[in-house]
Order: sequence, then structure tokens, then C-alpha cells
Amino acid sequence: MSTIASPRIADIGQCVNQTVCLKGWLYNRRSSKNVHFLELRDGSAIIQCVIGKNDVSPELFEAAANLSQETSLMITGTVREDSRSDLGYEIGVTDYTVVGEATDYPITPKEHGVAFLMENRHLWLRSKRQNAILKIRHELVNAIRDFFNQEDFTLIDAPIFTPSACEGTTNLFETTYFDRQAYLTQSGQLYMEAGAMAFGKVYCFGPTFRAEKSKTRRHLTEFWMVEPEVAYNTLYDNMDLAEKFLKYIVGRVLENRKLELKVLERDISALEKIQKPFPRIHYNDAIKKLQELGSDIVWGDDFGADDETMLTKEFDTPIMVHHYPAEIKAFYMKKDPENSKLSLSVDVLAPEGYGEIIGGGEREDNLEVLEKAIAAHDLPKEHFEWFLDLRRYGTVPHAGFGLGLERAVAWVCGLHHVRETIPFPRLMDRIKP
Ligand code: 4AD
Ligand code: MG
Repeated sequence: MSTIASPRIADIGQCVNQTVCLKGWLYNRRSSKNVHFLELRDGSAIIQCVIGKNDVSPELFEAAANLSQETSLMITGTVREDSRSDLGYEIGVTDYTVVGEATDYPITPKEHGVAFLMENRHLWLRSKRQNAILKIRHELVNAIRDFFNQEDFTLIDAPIFTPSACEGTTNLFETTYFDRQAYLTQSGQLYMEAGAMAFGKVYCFGPTFRAEKSKTRRHLTEFWMVEPEVAYNTLYDNMDLAEKFLKYIVGRVLENRKLELKVLERDISALEKIQKPFPRIHYNDAIKKLQELGSDIVWGDDFGADDETMLTKEFDTPIMVHHYPAEIKAFYMKKDPENSKLSLSVDVLAPEGYGEIIGGGEREDNLEVLEKAIAAHDLPKEHFEWFLDLRRYGTVPHAGFGLGLERAVAWVCGLHHVRETIPFPRLMDRIKP
């Protein structure tokens, strides 16, 4: 007895004119007196399955008129080429079985408010749009790993429980750790610095946490960050690496996720421009430019979201703003040897108003200077003794950066808000589902 093939819908092109059994869920249905059109989804793609009145038993034909959205189904039929559909194929149904009924599925094809959709995030994931976004996220994650692996970086996983702050003390999540206090990590950087001294080129890629009390379209309380760190790299090497890296990961999405970008109606030409060189702009020049554009920013200020938007609208590739005032950057930033008011820092700002996606720079490698910076930032020195050891035993110049995955996904997908870029977003006012 021959068994029927059961391919994923995305691979259906390999089964033209064959009988297959597809396993999925009913995405949508249109019915008339003589024919039912079932849109079946299986997570890989959606295919139209056509049931003509004489193709199945009268009972099955009649029952199809009551199949409801998200009912799970196994559909048997013949694969036909169909140039009118996005997929290029449809199914001529000969039989089907209901696996599990879905009564009153809450997310109907009509428009729903964001609060309602977020409340039903566990179901919202089944929609075409969320499927496209999360597949692009998946592509970016793989591209990120492939890039660093190809460049001979070693993956060094950073811990989640940490004894101290890396990115300032204002947005730390505190937790008890037996009889002590601990924090959820804000960044794996300090551990990557140890890794770079051991392996030369390292990266970590994992969840990081910030108790962000602002409800903006760019902030999550839990987000994923990839952080490379390289021994002997300068600020300028770091910028070269960030540029090459971003070009690679955007290129991968363009290459492998055309269908998903189309579902999202993303302007592909905007992404194709990312292959051009990225302008590098000194903080001093960025301030002048912003003032010309009408911002009331003054030298010494950090960029607000509006400033970033204003500045990036002037360019069609990401821009790299470097040499921010030391005052507005973290304790570990190396000062510019020519002007101690400035730091050897760089932020990469994405075009189309997306703003900061990468932060990084060259690290302070001098023991005494770093000790002073730790004191000046009121950080408990005892927690940083191990970090200072890296300067005590064979210190070298080194640099690295962190890319926020969700901001990168929002930009590449052209989304308004980061809440759709992660399967189960954590925001100031949301920890459910
Ligand atoms: O600029 P940040 O704070 O830099 C660091 O944490 C460095 N220690 C990284 C390093 O050099 N190894 O964060 C880096 C990136 C930001 O550019 C942004 O993309 C993302 O992390 N990010 C957030 N993404 C979503 N929600 C938040 N609350 C974020 N905070 C930072
Ligand atoms: Mg930053």
C-alpha cells in the first residue's frame, strides 16, 4: 500500500499533479452553492484548497459550509499549478478530516485594536503578518550567527544574573539571589571583554533586561542583544565591523525573505540602499546639523528620539555618529586622547526615522582611568575587581558594540512599534500572555 506524501505547504511545488495530505488550520473560507474555497495554513505558507460539489461526498460538501476559522484540518487532494495565486499552486480536494473544531475564534479578519491583539498574542501569532515578521526575525538571528561564525568569532554566553550594573543604575531589574541582591543583565559586554582577552574575537547573543519606565515605540523591558567584542580593535575598526555586519544581515533578508517582505508591503528599494557606504558623522557635526534643521539641542545633550528621526531622515543608509560627550555615555567608554570631554563611542542610527539600533565603542583600557570612572559613576568597586583584572593582566585596546535585535527587526520589516518584533513582548504595562 502506498502512503500519501504529507509535505509542508511551502514545499508543495515538489508535488505537482500528485495526491498529498496537508495538515493545518483553516485560515479563511469562501463558500457558494457549488464550491468551497478553503485557505489552509500550516505555518510554512497558505494554500487555497478547492472543493467542488462533485469532488467529495454530499455530506462532506455540506459540512464544509460550516467549517470555521482556525479549525484544524487534514486535507487530501491533488496539487495543481495556479499562476493566479502568490504560491503558484492550489489543491483540488478529494477528502478532508476535521482534527479539532474552533468555535468563535476571537481574531476575525476584521480590524482589531492593538490592546485586544496584544491580549491575544498567543493566537495573534497565527496571522499572516505576524508570521512574516517572525520569519524575518528568524532569518536575522541566523544571519547574525552566520556572520560572526564566518568571521571566526567564538560564542561566549554571558550570564543573566549579575551582581552589578553595566549600563547605569536607573533601569536595573533587581531580584533576590538567595540571601543577596542580584540584577538581571542589561548587557553582556563586561563578560565579552573578558572573553576577548581570552579568545580575541567573541560575541554573545541573548536576552537582556531594562526596567524602562518609558512607553515608547522603541523600548521593551526584555530584548535580545548581540554583542561582539574584539581585542586590539579601535573605534574605527569597530565602525568597519558594524557596517559590514549590517550590510550582511540586511542582504540575507533581501535574499531569502522576499515573500515575507511583500506581505509586510516593505519598500524593498529602501533596504537595497543599505549596501552603500554608511556616512560617519562626528557628534560635533551632528549637533550643528540638527541645529540647522531646527532642533533646540545644544552641545552636551544626548539625542532625543525626535533628533534621531530628524537627522536620519537626511540619509538613505544607516549613519554612524561617533565621539559623543563622555558625560552622556557609560563608565567604560574610553576618552578621546585629544579631547577628554569626548568618548570613543559610536551609535548606529537606522534610516527612515528608526534611530539607534547599535551602541558601542572603544573601551577604557587603562587601569587608573577606569578605577576613577567607576568611582565617578558611584559604582561599587568590589563588584568590578574582576573587570579591573582585565586591565591588570595584559591590557590591550579593544572595542565592541551591541545591536538590539528587535529594533533591527522593526527597521527591516518597516514596523511602527517594537511590540510586534518579538513573539511575546514584555513592556512596562504588559507581562501577559
Ligand atoms: O546602547 P546600549 O545601551 O549599549 C549597550 O548595552 C552596550 N553595552 C553594548 C555593547 O557595546 N556591547 O544598547 C545597545 C542596543 C541599542 O542600540 C538598542 O538597539 C538596544 O540595544 N536597546 C534596546 N532595544 C529595545 N528595548 C530597549 N529598552 C533597549 N535598550 C537598548
Ligand atoms: Mg545606546
